[in-house]
Amino acid sequence: MVDPPRGTFPYGSSPTPAAHAAAQPPTPLPPERITVEGLCVDYHGVVALHEASLRVAAGSICGLVGMNGAGKSTLFKALMGFVRPSRGTIRINGAPLAQARREQAVAYVPQTESVDWNFPVSVADVVMMGRYGRMNLLRRPRPQDRQAVRDSLERVALWDLRDRQIGELSGGQRKRAFLARALAQGATVLLLDEPFNGVDIRTEGLMVELFEQFRREGRSVLISTHDLAHVRGFCDQVVLINRTVLAYGAIDEVFTEENLARTFSAVVAGLGASPGGTR
Ligand SMILES: Nc1ncnc2c1ncn2[C@@H]1O[C@H](COP(=O)(O)OP(=O)(O)OP(=O)(O)O)[C@@H](O)[C@H]1O
Ligand SMILES: [Mg+2]
Repeated sequence: MVDPPRGTFPYGSSPTPAAHAAAQPPTPLPPERITVEGLCVDYHGVVALHEASLRVAAGSICGLVGMNGAGKSTLFKALMGFVRPSRGTIRINGAPLAQARREQAVAYVPQTESVDWNFPVSVADVVMMGRYGRMNLLRRPRPQDRQAVRDSLERVALWDLRDRQIGELSGGQRKRAFLARALAQGATVLLLDEPFNGVDIRTEGLMVELFEQFRREGRSVLISTHDLAHVRGFCDQVVLINRTVLAYGAIDEVFTEENLARTFSAVVAGLGASPGGTR
């Protein structure tokens, strides 16, 4: 649509002042970056997630809190399309997961243990993988791909280590390499599985700064963590998980004694989450 000239009313005759106010284009509501409804995932019949529902707003840093085995990595894998849910729907930026995957809308920084570090690729190669979705079948990097890789490595302070084999990096440096890959990918949703494990205070600060930049750019970050202080420190939303989503929404509303007790108890019963928050 072409904007009408200033001072004119776009549709029909001149309005009254009140009508004019009403006719202003509405401020678009921020789209939801992640919408999960009734998600069930099982591994060979053993339920890992039951009827999990949550929403993550655009431009938000969201903590995902739950005990070992609560289903955090499973949720990430479902959001990446790595595991097939037995039920439920996932939408990314309002679109089905298949479209989000085609558009490379979601980037994932895995939990350290789940990566084969002996893979013979350099740090720059790993970051270049974030560009594959934009390349043709031959995957020959173009100048803009090389530039994106350089920019991303510089943002995480790894440019000097770009030619190292990925397995030769420290734990914190590897995390930064995966973050750089996510940056190079240009994803709107960033999933980080326990990113602060084994990370020193400087890297932690650098990562939080990057998350805040992401938020300012309208992207969303979902971070699994066991550390409630992290959530209070820099998240604006939280999801509590224990084989299902127990509660999600603003931190002060979700962090009730009762919700935290359910999160950190051995509860495995299926309990759904009500839209918009705690229950
Ligand atoms: N590939 C798999 N095959 C079978 N069971 C699995 C598999 N992956 C996870 N599980 C089981 O699913 C449940 C949820 O696991 P998940 O890895 O999602 O937990 P998590 O919250 O990420 O835990 P942690 O904090 O230890 O990383 C666990 O009971 C786990 O044993
Ligand atoms: Mg995990």
